[in-house]
Amino acid sequence: MHWQTCQLFSPPVQMQEVLDPYLPHWRVPSAKAGGNAVVSQGAGIQNLRTTTLPALPPPGPHEIIIDVLSVCLNHRDIFGINGTQKGGWIPCSDAVGRVVAIGSKVKRVELNDRVCPIFSQNYLLDSDRKDAFSLGNTRGIPGTLCKKLLLSEENVVHVPDHLSDEEASTLPCAGVTAWRALVTEGRFKKGETVLVEGTGGVSAFGAQFANALGGKVICTSSSDSKLKRVKQLLSVKHTINYNKNPDWGNVAKSHFGGADHVLEIGGAGTFKQALVALNNHGSLAVIGILDGIETSLNLVQFFSKQIRMNGIAVGSRKDFEDMNKCIAEHRIRPLVSAVFPMSQACEAFKLMEGGGFIGQIVVSMTKPVSKL
Ligand SMILES: NC(=O)c1ccc[n+]([C@@H]2O[C@H](COP(=O)([O-])OP(=O)(O)OC[C@H]3O[C@@H](n4cnc5c(N)ncnc54)[C@H](OP(=O)(O)O)[C@@H]3O)[C@@H](O)[C@H]2O)c1
Repeated sequence: MHWQTCQLFSPPVQMQEVLDPYLPHWRVPSAKAGGNAVVSQGAGIQNLRTTTLPALPPPGPHEIIIDVLSVCLNHRDIFGINGTQKGGWIPCSDAVGRVVAIGSKVKRVELNDRVCPIFSQNYLLDSDRKDAFSLGNTRGIPGTLCKKLLLSEENVVHVPDHLSDEEASTLPCAGVTAWRALVTEGRFKKGETVLVEGTGGVSAFGAQFANALGGKVICTSSSDSKLKRVKQLLSVKHTINYNKNPDWGNVAKSHFGGADHVLEIGGAGTFKQALVALNNHGSLAVIGILDGIETSLNLVQFFSKQIRMNGIAVGSRKDFEDMNKCIAEHRIRPLVSAVFPMSQACEAFKLMEGGGFIGQIVVSMTKPVSKL
């Protein structure tokens, strides 16, 4: 396979300054990127470049600056990179960093603390969500694939001490999404069975939370070797190859007693089987669209099983903090299966696009070596 490597881009590209024109000025989040960064210059991984951004201003009274230590990729980053011709934006939403500067009135963090930005900036509680922005979107909100970030002190959370930088950087999107799907919205109870679709980031976290909280896990995958690995690494109890078993919902039901929760990441192509797999009063967390956006719904199946369906849009800072307590208590370690240096960020995106991984893919901003 030929890997495209990010090239040093000279002269530096002009970073987009203007945020979404539909956003009133008072809603603009205080999030700015600085230092070296990876920037999209048009659709496709081959159009990623590295550049040096202008120096950050000093933090305002309630702002902080972090040195980014590690950045985690999510499938949405691939959608963004491949989906827009527009250049001048920095991908990725997930990172962990060390606090290197604080404003005069900052109370929530101290110098040297290790923190993650929250995925949806300003989404602190469910009641706050209307002013939220995700980092690393194509409309000019900076992403995390850069050396420095200036953020509001309100928009970061401390990370559990037992996690490495690479592990900690995986938490904001995939971790919080799985937590909200299973715990906040799903109202998971001990002894319940959770079906996770595939072996990617959200699903790996879903399996880990279910296990930690006393549940059983059914995992589907296109690959027997991936299923073998998640059995070992994530203590998954039951596995189904969805390519060999297109009626995997029935298999889940007849062989493994069905699921009380499904983390639905496939979308149109998996939705019907997810409904089949669910037990009465089961919770369907609608999360992803990997296999299409639109589908028809058998309403009888839906109401006769009294299924609860929850749309999930990552989660709030409160979800993040609750999740971190569980991760710390149960010493959960996110499943990082590949680490790339910043100079090989393109290779990291290629690996994600190709699907040849389980769990999380990370770009280290401090270490020069790859780990696969
Ligand atoms: N709504 C939200 O808040 C939210 C948050 C995070 C992610 N998402 C969405 O959730 C989806 C997954 O995200 P991710 O970051 O976890 O992706 P990821 O890490 O790239 O995982 C992708 C994995 O999904 C599995 N998969 C693909 N097609 C499948 C299918 N038809 N049936 C079952 N499994 C399938 C594959 O597993 P195998 O190789 O094992 O088959 C693949 O490796 C994406 O659509 C993403 O945009 C939504």
